[in-house]
Amino acid sequence: MQQRIEAAIGNAIREATGRPAPSKLARALDYAVSPGGARIRPTILLSVAAACGDDRPAVADAAAAALELVHSASLVHDDLPCFDDADLRRGKPSVHRAFGEAVAVLTGDSLIFLAFRMLAAAASHDPGRAARLVGLLADHSGMPGGICAGQGWESESVIDLSAYHRAKTGSLFVAATQMGAVAAGHDPEPWEELGARIGEAFQVADDLRDALCDAETLGKPVHQDDAHRRPNAVAILGVQGAIRRLEDILSGAIASIPSCPGEAALAQLVRRYAERMTPVPQAAARAGGAGARG
Ligand code: IPE
Ligand code: MG
Ligand code: MG
Repeated sequence: MQQRIEAAIGNAIREATGRPAPSKLARALDYAVSPGGARIRPTILLSVAAACGDDRPAVADAAAAALELVHSASLVHDDLPCFDDADLRRGKPSVHRAFGEAVAVLTGDSLIFLAFRMLAAAASHDPGRAARLVGLLADHSGMPGGICAGQGWESESVIDLSAYHRAKTGSLFVAATQMGAVAAGHDPEPWEELGARIGEAFQVADDLRDALCDAETLGKPVHQDDAHRRPNAVAILGVQGAIRRLEDILSGAIASIPSCPGEAALAQLVRRYAERMTPVPQAAARAGGAGARG
């Protein structure tokens, strides 16, 4: 599955950089997506597509690439000085540190357009599914409920915490489950809850990692939640409370998987990710006393 994801993303980048083009921007597009991070969103997408029969793999591949491109674009923009002003991403200098701010803005923009370009091309395999995928990706990326809305909450004087997290982090996980279902010809609605719960778990895990891990382990700056005075699960629940919350959400996620032929395999995937998402028990124990994840 990882090979499938890398191939789909590689094809997309070649599509955007193959012809004569500004070379710095072309290099920045590649730099922003490879090597990638955990690729968790396209992995979930393809896993849901597989659970639903994956009868149009080319459509699922396009959807997986498109989703990861939008995610990568959001990280490029998120690191800019006008947002989090982060120097490090995925263990290397952030795009604006490596290529300059103007190129970084254009890199994020170009990745977003490329994502929709990939979905448009998938129409040659199945126009109906491609159109639905375009709508889903747009809904979960833009306003009023997508990543743009999530980032927008950070400019408000009063933040609706659950709307903020749902939009900033949850939206692309709901996109992952719903786009996986639609790519395989299934209805998206029954898959919303699974995506939302995985997204919620991911946010708690991200808050824990931000509080407990070092920059070298994460490949990006740490203690950002405190530095930017952002409300976060560790500040609200403490380390052990946040770990318990994470476990509760993940059991709920597994219970919410719609019945389908690949149900058991999907539950297995969520369990595997749960283990990877939770920071190492030693770090949690150091910060929060005994009784870390057992
Ligand atoms: C980071 O997402 C951004 C958040 C929503 C917290 P990931 O942790 O999935 O980033 P990569 O893709 O693995 O680098
Ligand atoms: Mg941010
Ligand atoms: Mg950030």
